[in-house]
Amino acid sequence: MSQATIGVIGGSGLYAMEGLTDVEEVRLTTPYGDPSDAFIIGTLAGQRVAFLPRHGRGHRINPSELPSRANIHAFKQLGIRALISVSAVGSLREEYAPGHVVIPNQLFDRTKGGRPTTFFEQGIVAHIAFDKPFCPVLTSILHEAAVTAGATVHMGGTMVVMEGPAFSTLAESEENRRRGHDLIGMTALPEAKLAREAEIAYGTLAMVTDYDAWHPGHDAVTVDAVVAVLHANATLSQQIVAQAVARIGADFTSPAHSALATAIITDRSRIAP
Ligand code: ADE
Repeated sequence: MSQATIGVIGGSGLYAMEGLTDVEEVRLTTPYGDPSDAFIIGTLAGQRVAFLPRHGRGHRINPSELPSRANIHAFKQLGIRALISVSAVGSLREEYAPGHVVIPNQLFDRTKGGRPTTFFEQGIVAHIAFDKPFCPVLTSILHEAAVTAGATVHMGGTMVVMEGPAFSTLAESEENRRRGHDLIGMTALPEAKLAREAEIAYGTLAMVTDYDAWHPGHDAVTVDAVVAVLHANATLSQQIVAQAVARIGADFTSPAHSALATAIITDRSRIAP
């Protein structure tokens, strides 16, 4: 079975990773169905990296239908210890301009409750801590990597995750700003939560593509605007990922790796021998 230590899950605009050598394509199945696509596994900066296009090649899967449990289960099967999520996001703050990169440190769930959000069900109950949804170690590596790659990068911010696929109304966009949210996207949940349950360190490289609907000086977000910024930024996001991979190293450890040690679990013997 192929193995890798670093995973990259690419969002809109990131459907492949440049610079991989010794590349293999691996299809995996899981108890939760098939992942979004085949994994592309290759060597980058001396490390085995597994890349998965979140929406599938050709952008076939909408945010509400993403097989997040299968994706995370498959990353776990591969042996992934650090998962870099690359996401296109809208900005709810003037300073986070389109083209900038943000490394968020908080999430707020405004999905509609229809996405499976846990591996722990049907007789197994486990309550993990999720107060800090992103791995602080991976987050600071991503920040350093973005600075080195020459991005305009902001550290920290709350990303609200909406259901989509339609973008927000003006009233919703203004309400999200009043609530103090900084960014908006459609995919970080339940992905981040499932990664924590699987004891995989998770961090997001949020590529700002638009000012959502609230900004009086900018047209409301359109798919064309998002895609245009993403294309302009595709090389930058790959350079940041390459810099991050080089920094993660074989001895990478994260508090996420022992997330279940402090979880409340009804019957621990059933998930860990
Ligand atoms: N992804 C990119 N831009 C977005 C926006 N404005 N709202 C939700 N998801 C997005």
